[in-house]
Amino acid sequence: FSDFLTDTFRRQHDYLRISVTERCNLRCLYCMPEEGIPLSPSRDQLTTPEIVLLSGLFVSQGVTKIRLTGGEPTVRRDIVPLMQQIGSLRAHGLRELCLTTNGLSLHRKLDAMVEAGLTGINLSLDTLDPWQFQLMTRRAGFAAVQKSIDKIFELNRLGAGIKFKINCVVMRGLNDREILPFVEMTRDKDVEVRFIEYMPFDGNKWNEGKMFSYGEMLDRIRGQFPDFMRIQGHKNDTSKTWQVPGFLGKVGFITSMTHNFCGTCNRLRITSDGNLKVCLFGNAEVSLRDIVRQVNRGEPIDEEAFERLKQAAVLQLGSEGGGMEGPMVARNSEELLKVINLAV
Ligand code: GTP
Ligand code: 5AD
Ligand code: SF4
Repeated sequence: FSDFLTDTFRRQHDYLRISVTERCNLRCLYCMPEEGIPLSPSRDQLTTPEIVLLSGLFVSQGVTKIRLTGGEPTVRRDIVPLMQQIGSLRAHGLRELCLTTNGLSLHRKLDAMVEAGLTGINLSLDTLDPWQFQLMTRRAGFAAVQKSIDKIFELNRLGAGIKFKINCVVMRGLNDREILPFVEMTRDKDVEVRFIEYMPFDGNKWNEGKMFSYGEMLDRIRGQFPDFMRIQGHKNDTSKTWQVPGFLGKVGFITSMTHNFCGTCNRLRITSDGNLKVCLFGNAEVSLRDIVRQVNRGEPIDEEAFERLKQAAVLQLGSEGGGMEGPMVARNSEELLKVINLAV
């Protein structure tokens, strides 16, 4: 692993999350208002060649896992060709290519995606009840999501080997009574169901009362399955992994509100308009887009803009990017800049 993307906590940032669109075809209560979010002008969004270029740069610096997110990534019209091009980075060290999706239109594109090298799917699903689905996502579509899920299991039965997780945000009074049915699903299905503590996001009307904590979830599950036990997860998991002994699948908990996991976070993020972020909770963003565009046009780099970019990157990695655990002081802010420099 190159030193470039290692920080003072010796965290190796080898996992890149790329948001490929802000748009979404659902309106989950905890995420978006009914009217959707104001979209940035499309000229500000990264094009497919730009995303591929940045992916290649990061893979050349030691990134081994790329996850495409959104919004909802499958609403991007050229998501499959995009995945094919990123998939070809396997020859240069990319080991995992993953997707976080709501599954609504996944079934139509899944075969082509697996062909392109997709290795993991995290599917957001908060309920197993079609009416509750409509309530929580403000849209119909449960049957379509079910179709995608069936298709994933079918492909895996045929040996596709897709790592499959279901993300379930638990909101008190809305879907907390579905915790046990979701756990039940892991009895004979090879899936990791991950319960996520409801988090405050801009304007989602979060309040503590609606948050259902890790501790409460455990109590609920232990009531039914007394021998429910913690098992070893993977090194950089955001979740704590548990299992009912004898069940095929696993259960995870993403405890962003009660037990943070910043110490093992290895994620870098690129927003759909080309900003680099090290932390979900850090506000500072560094724009890679304009520099990449100048390079692609064969123009000389605007030195002044580049200086500002560097300073912003140092600021973000050096003092501000720290999430809930406080400042993440990057030994390697300079090193990360080398990645940016590679674009020049
Ligand atoms: P894998 O580890 O590859 O399964 O993916 P993931 O858990 O990083 O990705 P996913 O898109 O499924 O995100 C699951 C949840 O983790 C979402 O609720 C994210 O908001 C949350 N999440 C992802 N990264 C971070 C982070 O750095 N900090 C916090 N607090 N939450 C995060
Ligand atoms: N709290 C917790 N999880 C959320 N997600 C989106 N908004 C929130 C929130 N306010 C989840 C989605 C998806 C994942 C990427 O983030 O359900 O599974
Ligand atoms: Fe937000 Fe995902 Fe729901 Fe779309 S599907 S509204 S991006 S949580």
